[in-house]
Amino acid sequence: MKEQLENIYKNATEDLTKASSISDIDEIRAKYLSRKGEFNEIKKNLKNLSDEDKRVIGSLANEITQKLENALKEKHTEFYRKELNQKLLTERIDITLPGKFTPAGKVHPLTSTTNEITAIFQSLGFSVVPEEKSPEVETEYYNFDALNVPKDHPARDVQDTFYTEIAKNVVLRSQTSGAQIHAMEGKNPPIRVISPGRVYRNENINARKNNLFHQIEGLYVDKDITFGDLKGVLNEFIRIYFGSSRPTRFRSSFFPFTEPSAEVDVQCIMCEGKGCRTCSGTGWLEVLGCGMVDPNVLEVVGIDPDVYTGFAFGMGVERLAMLKYAIDDIRLFFNNDERFLKQF
Ligand code: DAH
Repeated sequence: MKEQLENIYKNATEDLTKASSISDIDEIRAKYLSRKGEFNEIKKNLKNLSDEDKRVIGSLANEITQKLENALKEKHTEFYRKELNQKLLTERIDITLPGKFTPAGKVHPLTSTTNEITAIFQSLGFSVVPEEKSPEVETEYYNFDALNVPKDHPARDVQDTFYTEIAKNVVLRSQTSGAQIHAMEGKNPPIRVISPGRVYRNENINARKNNLFHQIEGLYVDKDITFGDLKGVLNEFIRIYFGSSRPTRFRSSFFPFTEPSAEVDVQCIMCEGKGCRTCSGTGWLEVLGCGMVDPNVLEVVGIDPDVYTGFAFGMGVERLAMLKYAIDDIRLFFNNDERFLKQF
């Protein structure tokens, strides 16, 4: 048996000198040292020997396998280094080569403007009406009737509003103001919400007007809400959004759903008030309509106008973005010209 062991060891070392790669070494290890390897076969027969032989042969077997194990390890390290060096040489990376350009997506300026405006109102205590509570496809009830818009109001005309073929009274909403009704239905004040979204109008398209645009509606109903609160909130919004140096003006106006009503203009950034194509020569761009919620609107949703008052506003996202980034044509937001979009 001793001889047998020495023979196996001799064969193994011979195999090892012929080995030229890590996989050769793995093969040798399997052949001699695995559970089914040649040494194990011998160790299995040890049990038939006398105690004395068992001790001698056993320790010899251990010694030899240990020696082989070490030799394999050494060779393994040697080959590993060699193979690694080879790889490093052949797979060398030229770090001076120019990289591959991966175009990164960017947030559309209308999205970032909406997010920015939303964050400002959130910081002022307003929460956002969930999207499903302010649908783009709306019934005339929410878009007009509940908002106190008379049946014969010109805004209802097909020349202004897109009617769908779903049903006679279903429109693409022409304003986000319907979200006010959704927000108040079944709720008790205080209600303090904003609702951003797309609106549609059958407009003649020009630098200031598109037939799809975006608004952010706002509503605050509680006891003792005054026009002073409305002005305070909107002035604070404008100060945060534009900084304090931008000239703005409050102008009295009319909307069926507010009384009194006002509009806010911001000085045109393109001409600094001198008058240009973007502001159609006036020096100002209207950015929002607002007012005290008309008592009729509160009554429609079951809120007592003798107990509660409120203010509402609706602002144009495109206009606000144009005035911040000096964009002179609303159509730029919609034709997806990369040269425009890349600047944001
Ligand atoms: N919905 C109006 C528009 O699209 C803007 C507006 C005016 C909204 C007054 C309001 C408001 O909430 O109170 O022109």
